[in-house]
Amino acid sequence: MRSEVTRRDLLRTIGATGGAGVLFETMTALGLAPDHADRHGPDFHPPRRAEVAGDDMPTVLVIGAGVAGLTAAYELGKAGYDCRVLEARHRSGGRNLTVRGGDEERDLDGRTHRAEFADGQYMNAGPGRIAQSMVTLDYCRELGVPVEPFANQNANAYVHRENGAGRGTAVRFRTAKADVYGYVAELLAKATDQGALDDVLTAEDRERVLSFLEGFGAIGGRADGWAYRGGSRRGYAEEPGAGERPGVVLGPPPTLSEVFASQVGRAFSFEFGVDQAMMMFQPVGGMDAIVTALERAVGVHRVTHHAEVRALTTGADGVRVVYRDARGRDQVATADYCVATLPPRLLARLDHNLGPEVSAALAQPRPTASGKIGLEYQGRWWEQEERLYGGITQTDLDITQIWYPSHGHHEARGVLIGYYVSGQRAVEFGRLSPAERLSRAVRAGSRIHGARYRRGLTSSFSIAWERTPHIEEGWASWPSRSSGHYALLTRPAGRVHFAGDWLSYLVAWQAGAFLSARDAVTNLHQQVRAT
Ligand code: FAD
Ligand code: ALA
Repeated sequence: MRSEVTRRDLLRTIGATGGAGVLFETMTALGLAPDHADRHGPDFHPPRRAEVAGDDMPTVLVIGAGVAGLTAAYELGKAGYDCRVLEARHRSGGRNLTVRGGDEERDLDGRTHRAEFADGQYMNAGPGRIAQSMVTLDYCRELGVPVEPFANQNANAYVHRENGAGRGTAVRFRTAKADVYGYVAELLAKATDQGALDDVLTAEDRERVLSFLEGFGAIGGRADGWAYRGGSRRGYAEEPGAGERPGVVLGPPPTLSEVFASQVGRAFSFEFGVDQAMMMFQPVGGMDAIVTALERAVGVHRVTHHAEVRALTTGADGVRVVYRDARGRDQVATADYCVATLPPRLLARLDHNLGPEVSAALAQPRPTASGKIGLEYQGRWWEQEERLYGGITQTDLDITQIWYPSHGHHEARGVLIGYYVSGQRAVEFGRLSPAERLSRAVRAGSRIHGARYRRGLTSSFSIAWERTPHIEEGWASWPSRSSGHYALLTRPAGRVHFAGDWLSYLVAWQAGAFLSARDAVTNLHQQVRAT
């Protein structure tokens, strides 16, 4: 155990001072370099130093120190490429942003918003969850970033419907699901048993479907007319206890018509999504643990903050970049190659010579606004009084959802995500001042949690990504990937390679940024080997 910790510390130090190339040489010598087949999947063959002719490794300028930019520098650095990362913001990470007490963000309107969270409290203002299938977890493992479960679903969270029948009611997911699945099972069982589906079901199929539906919906059998009558799946009004306390089951359920009129079932489909199904994970201590680990592995001395690239030229022998430094002075940087990871609209604004086709392609992805608010409370009333340990409440109010933290259970304080919105709702929240966003979020949350929602609320922090300098969108969406524009940008323009989640089929996921960076690295390495 002791030697493990020492070895990890040693590797961190080597990574921070020597960069990824030296780190990987050391890891290989120690027999610790990752097994490519295991950790990188079949499609990615990281570049190797031995594959490049000559004594000097090419230099690479990476624009943007988000996940894509840092990953490009990391993977190239492992093979010995000499990378430098230019980042316009005051910190690395881009949209991978964890906000803690003392952090400040200035928006495009010139408003500065400061987080006053207590020590140890934080909100993930961008990414918050990672699906099991995603390459993001492979990087967490490789970089030594510990992860913990993220509760994306919780039977005790609420489905809240302000509109439609049952106005303003909040129902636990377990209750809503029991009722919706119960009545769907009842209807289908009746239809099946009455022969309505005989043209698609054999007699054997029919019995199997009925047997499935009995369990799926907890409905009565044939003798009971397949009726759904509720039961303990809905939850308890009084929990079972010891002795003569069997508990009191919630019930009886509303009628079938009431359940469907309330539209609670519309909140369920989200968790069937391949990228939203449990288990899901988050890094321990904040999503930016990924950024910190990547930056260390790249070598912090290789990353320059407050370096806003304004011009980019590709030529026969290399690339030339003009960036504005922290003091507002223009600086020139040159390299053999470039990996540009800016959001597409910002890339299009650079003074560049990448050609009219590239400009036209960069104009294609549509920006989507997105925002979140973190609400810090002195007491974790959601755990103590509502038995809510993580998970998400879904509502048709403008806040869309409330996230309860998946970490820090039973501690004194905690930070809820009081809204997480995208599209038009995000635009509307983004237009408000931080104080107005807070009051709107609290007003809406109180519709679900009552007076508790105001009790012990000590501070808040909100972000509107479309109003955040050097980002200006939550994410970019392609109206079409088959017009040729997308394909064009997956190839280099001269010596400039593009990367970012927007150049993947995993837009709005860090996995898209990781995978796109790998593609850019592969293409760049091939270009180097061919010249
Ligand atoms: P970015 O993070 O946008 O990085 C681009 C970088 O370029 C930035 O650092 C920017 O400052 C810099 N830059 C811009 N202009 C210049 C310039 N002129 N000069 C120099 N540098 C410049 N992903 C998940 O995996 N799970 C989630 O749960 C999840 N939820 C999300 C929720 C929200 C609200 C948002 C906004 C995103 C979420 N994502 C999630 C997506 C994830 O954040 C992104 O996919 C990923 O961070 C994108 O990384 P990137 O490097 O491609 O882009
Ligand atoms: N991928 C983003 C999320 O899961 C949009 O919230």
